[in-house]
Amino acid sequence: MADPLEERPTPYLVVDADLLEANIADMAAVAADRGVALRPHAKTHKTPEIARLQLAAGAVGLTVATVAEAETFAAHGCPDLFVAYPLWVDPAKGRRLRVLSERALLTLAVDSVEGARALAAQVPGSRVVVEVDSGQHRSGVAPAETGALAEVAAASGLEVVGVFTFPGHSYAPGVQDEVAAQEAAALAEAAASLTAHGIAPTVVSGGSTPSVAQAHGDVLTEVRPGVYPFGDAQQWELGTTTPDRIALTCIATVVSHAGGRVVLDAGSKAIAPDRSAWATGHGRLLDHPDARLVQLSEHHAVTVWDSGPLPALGSRLRVVPNHVCNAVNLTDELVVVRGGEVVDTWRVAARGANT
Ligand SMILES: Cc1ncc(COP(=O)(O)O)c(C=O)c1O
Repeated sequence: MADPLEERPTPYLVVDADLLEANIADMAAVAADRGVALRPHAKTHKTPEIARLQLAAGAVGLTVATVAEAETFAAHGCPDLFVAYPLWVDPAKGRRLRVLSERALLTLAVDSVEGARALAAQVPGSRVVVEVDSGQHRSGVAPAETGALAEVAAASGLEVVGVFTFPGHSYAPGVQDEVAAQEAAALAEAAASLTAHGIAPTVVSGGSTPSVAQAHGDVLTEVRPGVYPFGDAQQWELGTTTPDRIALTCIATVVSHAGGRVVLDAGSKAIAPDRSAWATGHGRLLDHPDARLVQLSEHHAVTVWDSGPLPALGSRLRVVPNHVCNAVNLTDELVVVRGGEVVDTWRVAARGANT
């Protein structure tokens, strides 16, 4: 393994610019192939340089999860932002949204009458979409209830332009076709419900990284994958990326051979603690696909090594985090390499922008 920056203390996150660009170009092609616009979720990278690459590759705007992320990307010149989250808009958030709406075309989300009225009281005339639950059972209303909520939102003074869903139950092995079909069915029913209440849906937004390649372009107008510029161990294990396309890794040092295992200095404070029930470990090693991270604490990743001699103490390995969004949110900067050479350092400008 080539360490792009041998002097740099580990653990740190490194991004391969060639792979990043290839992943961005490929997703633009996937969206074009499905006949939908691409509005990447910027919560994954939180980094203006990467947002610029996505927009240059044809993304119509960005998705964000918080007002603070929207503020960051608007300040870095993104003119079109969708906050895909059912915000509770109190007076303080209302003030921030009013300022933001002067700087960017802002689309917001509602999934309750109370939320819609609170938003309308603070930011009258806001452009909104209604969130629909397509099977993840997180937030969003049942598809059949969309029109009634949209009517109340419109009567409160909001501009209702469509519907959206996040098919988060696509995060399981072998379900992507089925989940994409559920997403399309829920969105189609929700859009019809809007129409039946006299509101024309121009935005029908869906998409997750695992299910985006199966998105139904006859129903959806746009998709919002986030993870795809980097990829991560979840996508690797779901088969929605391959290890040779993973653009972000955490460089970690072997600090111990205790118990005949490999202990690395990239713990949950570096790669984040996410672990789905179906994941084979707490992350993967890019150059050693047979190794498994069996135990993770704040500063230790204990790794079992079935094939060959253990890597030497002091050597450096490339760890692939399970869930890249949370790993990126733990670091101030990303080291950027091209052809093994460090070419830049990008600040994670929206790190911790959670409000
Ligand atoms: C509302 C919403 N849209 C889009 C995304 C991006 O999907 P993914 O993380 O699969 O790339 C997420 C991710 O959590 C999300 O919550």
